[in-house]
Amino acid sequence: MRFKDKVCLVTGGGSGIGRAACERFAAEGGKVAIVDVNDANGAETAAAIAKDGGEAIYIHCDIGEAAAVQAAVQQTVDKWQKIDVIVNDAAMMTFKPIVDLDEDDWDKVMRVNMRSVFLFCKHGVPHMPPGSAIVNISSVHAHETTRNVVPYASSKGAMESFTRGFSEEAADLKIRINCVAPGAVNTPMLWNNPNVKSGAEKVEGAIGEPEDIAAAICFLAADEARFITGTTLVVDGGRLDIL
Ligand SMILES: NC(=O)c1ccc[n+]([C@@H]2O[C@H](COP(=O)([O-])OP(=O)(O)OC[C@H]3O[C@@H](n4cnc5c(N)ncnc54)[C@H](O)[C@@H]3O)[C@@H](O)[C@H]2O)c1
Repeated sequence: MRFKDKVCLVTGGGSGIGRAACERFAAEGGKVAIVDVNDANGAETAAAIAKDGGEAIYIHCDIGEAAAVQAAVQQTVDKWQKIDVIVNDAAMMTFKPIVDLDEDDWDKVMRVNMRSVFLFCKHGVPHMPPGSAIVNISSVHAHETTRNVVPYASSKGAMESFTRGFSEEAADLKIRINCVAPGAVNTPMLWNNPNVKSGAEKVEGAIGEPEDIAAAICFLAADEARFITGTTLVVDGGRLDIL
């Protein structure tokens, strides 16, 4: 019960890795704020947690919007008075060469994947007591990538730099911040990826389950990781070695 009485806010909690993290936090005693834009999926995660006797609320929030992030943080604090864990998980991808990419699409990826991390840190951290932790979900694409997903890879690289830099400021408040960089994971995001569908990005032999990533997220969020901050844990079943 590593998260007994801990309040855990997870973006992208309606699906895939985010949902698995929500369920694991709840199973270990956490009170979970599920943040997503997909209301049906968010409500499904909340219902699954309630069915197992856990405590969760679903909050509709487009994480790239400052006012929406502030409102999500406020709703969580109104309910449980604090936030102990923030997981910045929700993300999006585009699948075009840079020369064909609309400026708006570039901005959208950066808003959802990176600006959201800044916003949840800016607005969430003031409500986080000493001992709290932030876990950002990066990707192996921050380290080795393929064509047509440059905005996504760039946003994840920026996320890892942000994490290293902000860890120093957060340390003053006794808050830790780390990244998990998953490899291929069995979620809708993986199977909807045209590069994966076409075979341009090969995933055979190294596909993890959302629970494999949730285990790493919960480890970094828990007190047992108290000496770990500002770093990235690659959880990819060895995939980076073959990219
Ligand atoms: N699945 C993989 O193979 C893989 C690999 C490496 C990294 N990742 C990372 O893991 C994280 C989770 O991915 P997943 O595979 O579980 O994806 P997923 O598609 O299963 O879930 C993503 C969730 O984010 C939500 N979301 C999207 N845009 C949002 C927005 N603007 N505001 C709020 N919520 C929004 C979606 O509604 C969805 O519920 C992402 O950061 C992704 O980059 C995934």
